Amino acid sequence: MEDFKKSTIYQVYPKSFYDSNGDGIGDIKGITEKLDYIKSLGADYIWSTPFFVSPMNDNGYDVEDYRNINPIFGTMEDVEELIGEAEKRGIGIMLDMVFNHTSTRHEWFRRALAGEKEYMDYYIFKEGEPDVPPTNWESKFGGSAWEYVPTLKKWYLHLFDVTQADLNWNNAKVREDMKEIIRFWKKKGVKGFRFDVVNLISKPEIFEDDWEGDGRRFYSDGPRMHEFLKELVADTGIHDMVTVGEMSSTSLEHCIRYSNPEEKELSMCFNFHHLKVDYKDGNKWELEKTDFGKLKKIFEAWQTEMEKHNGWNAVFWCNHDQPRIVSRMGDEKEYWKESAKMLASCIHLLRGTPYIYQGEELGMTNPGYKEIGEYRDVESINYYHILLQEGKGREEALEILGQRSRDNSRSPMQWNSGKYGGFSENEPWIGIPENYKYINAAAEEQDSDSVLNYYRELIRLRKKYPIIQEGSIEFLHGMRPEIFAYKRVLGGQELLVLNNMTDKNADLKEAISCQGFLRLIGNYPCEKLPDKVGELRPYESVVLMKG
Ligand code: GLC
Ligand code: CA
Repeated sequence: MEDFKKSTIYQVYPKSFYDSNGDGIGDIKGITEKLDYIKSLGADYIWSTPFFVSPMNDNGYDVEDYRNINPIFGTMEDVEELIGEAEKRGIGIMLDMVFNHTSTRHEWFRRALAGEKEYMDYYIFKEGEPDVPPTNWESKFGGSAWEYVPTLKKWYLHLFDVTQADLNWNNAKVREDMKEIIRFWKKKGVKGFRFDVVNLISKPEIFEDDWEGDGRRFYSDGPRMHEFLKELVADTGIHDMVTVGEMSSTSLEHCIRYSNPEEKELSMCFNFHHLKVDYKDGNKWELEKTDFGKLKKIFEAWQTEMEKHNGWNAVFWCNHDQPRIVSRMGDEKEYWKESAKMLASCIHLLRGTPYIYQGEELGMTNPGYKEIGEYRDVESINYYHILLQEGKGREEALEILGQRSRDNSRSPMQWNSGKYGGFSENEPWIGIPENYKYINAAAEEQDSDSVLNYYRELIRLRKKYPIIQEGSIEFLHGMRPEIFAYKRVLGGQELLVLNNMTDKNADLKEAISCQGFLRLIGNYPCEKLPDKVGELRPYESVVLMKG
């Protein structure tokens, strides 16, 4: 079995992880200093978000130079040291390749702007009148996806910020340059790659207005996607490395193809359908209660279909673009610990490779910023203004940001109860919530019943039991939507995972017999397994194994 199927991957957002030199910004040396902590979790790989040279309009997802390190994060020597020190501990480093677009400060774009034909063909420029964009597509960060360049009398496409210009993958030279970047980092000893919004790289032949949506149906999983991925993987020889594609508004059919080993594309895919179950009519900026029935249906479809067709999921709740899961689907107060652990069980016993985003293993919460001045993220700031323009009041707009902003995950890692949570000696670039005084790594290290130790146990169980790695999966029906329950089966073994996603007792309708089962893990004390489980307590998680 492939090694990534037994692995757990820890995601680091360097800017907010650990500041080694006291300038308020996390850095690469900071990651190296904390490797033993990551090792103590049992993680096999670290995926770091980009630390390459960048103007940082999108915190490094706007790359100016793919082969050099942004000085605020450190030097190439620091990266080499990180790779080497991680390797000594049996941890592989995975880098984030942002290949859909570059920063407009990238040399290629500057040369394109200067009118060099060769480089204009690296991007997507279209003719047009200065006040009529080529299509009505919207940028994912708000506003038009096109920007006019008066000197060229042309528009260029930017699906994200105006300073992130989309690359033209139909140009073979672009594809060759991207392969060179992969080879460069592979030589440095990295063990894998995460490909940023990779399913957006193949643009359609014809650019037309979208009268149903924002344009995404025309460019997501585009016509040459599978061809481009196969070529990239074959020509760089990364088929045996760990690779994960971030898939934006994708489909199950495509993700099966992206991740089925026979296709020789990627090891696995991230998709986000399960994180849109609290969007009103699919709109991230309209609050809605979580639809647990829908959540379960989405997981069920992705889990069982991927199994049936030999695909592989990356499974996760959190990353640097998502609010904290305990604030989102759990409870920040009375049942903080129970709900954080229950949400961990849901993910870590699924079929797929689990990802942990820094601080998730501590049960970190949304920071609760109250003022627009506390936000740093380009998307959040853009949408704050869009929400006001749409007629929402200041309070309401801030309430929405408080729940939906990407900065919710970007507050500094909470290491201890000291000043600035032990993240830095000086004021961090973004605020830290008050709860660092008790939600922090040092405190949880001391407490055998902590969220941190629960995560450690889940990772250990995955390594120990093949049923967690490769057992087949079946969702349990006939229960309330808020009971997230599934069964894993391997040979004569059975694993039963029962989770109550609410703050109330919930009966299972039909009690489940515990005959022959052992309790593997759970988030409430348990002296002795009862004969039957008929009811789950608030946010209770019970994991039973037989055979
Ligand atoms: C991905 C990244 C996100 C970034 C975007 C554009 O979604 O995770 O942080 O803003 O791509 O590169
Ligand atoms: Ca620093």
